[in-house]
Amino acid sequence: MNILDKYSLAGKVAVVTGASQGLGRGYAAGLAEAGAHVMCCARNMEGLRSVAEEIVAKGGGAEPIALDVTRYEETGKIFETIKNKHGSLDILVNNAGAEETADFVDVTPSQYDRIMDVNLKGAFFAAQAAARIMAAQKKGKILNIGSLGSAVGLAQSSVYCGTKGGIVQMTRTMAIELAPSNIQVNALGPGYFRTPMTEPFFQDPAHRKWIEERIPAGRVGTVEDLLGAVIFLCGDASDYLTGQILYVDGGWLAS
Ligand SMILES: NC(=O)c1ccc[n+]([C@@H]2O[C@H](COP(=O)([O-])OP(=O)(O)OC[C@H]3O[C@@H](n4cnc5c(N)ncnc54)[C@H](OP(=O)(O)O)[C@@H]3O)[C@@H](O)[C@H]2O)c1
Repeated sequence: MNILDKYSLAGKVAVVTGASQGLGRGYAAGLAEAGAHVMCCARNMEGLRSVAEEIVAKGGGAEPIALDVTRYEETGKIFETIKNKHGSLDILVNNAGAEETADFVDVTPSQYDRIMDVNLKGAFFAAQAAARIMAAQKKGKILNIGSLGSAVGLAQSSVYCGTKGGIVQMTRTMAIELAPSNIQVNALGPGYFRTPMTEPFFQDPAHRKWIEERIPAGRVGTVEDLLGAVIFLCGDASDYLTGQILYVDGGWLAS
């Protein structure tokens, strides 16, 4: 096998949660460009249809699928349906996420639950549902999505940082339990990227300045800057790499 073949996702079936907008939309397009058939999952069918249509128009394979990651039992049924239709479920990009900024002292129990239910509990049970299928296949890749908030505290994002710190520990534990089944579980830690989630930060001149001044690369990244890592972590080239978090942040955390 040529080394570059290990970066191809041809013949693989990938699920991307939170694919209706933002980074998930870009991951879906990138995985499809690398050859995967991508199941684009989220709640907003209009957004999903448009991303799937865009992928198909470029010659890739994609389907929109309504999935709410907080309906934990439904996730398993949807993944089973995908496997039965396509023969396998090879890749899960566990990307669906929510954020609602507030000072720590003002966070309400319902805000706490909303963020936890999507970012941590939703990711946990999506990974569990995928792992059950992948274990039977004896092969699979789970890519959880962390954040700079997996490594450092971010003001007004206490719950979010709690979920993203949890993603790292969850990733490590899943990785050791699933390694014997030849399933690799890693996490991607994006720096700051401009999406509907972060748009309020970029609209605030002081916050924007704070973000930009801390990026040694001298610019805010685009989703294309994340795709090399995503494709590597979802393909055969990373078969001996598991339990890691890879930060793609233009040097933010190193500084
Ligand atoms: N943007 C950044 O700079 C950045 C940095 C580090 C990490 N991240 C992480 O990257 C991921 C994507 O962030 P983003 O910036 O692209 O955010 P975004 O633009 O707000 O997109 C979030 C996605 O998650 C989906 N989602 C939310 N709740 C869901 C649910 N209950 N079930 C299924 N899907 C759900 C949304 O789709 P629907 O509303 O259609 O369901 C949407 O597609 C998140 O995990 C985020 O924490 C982002």
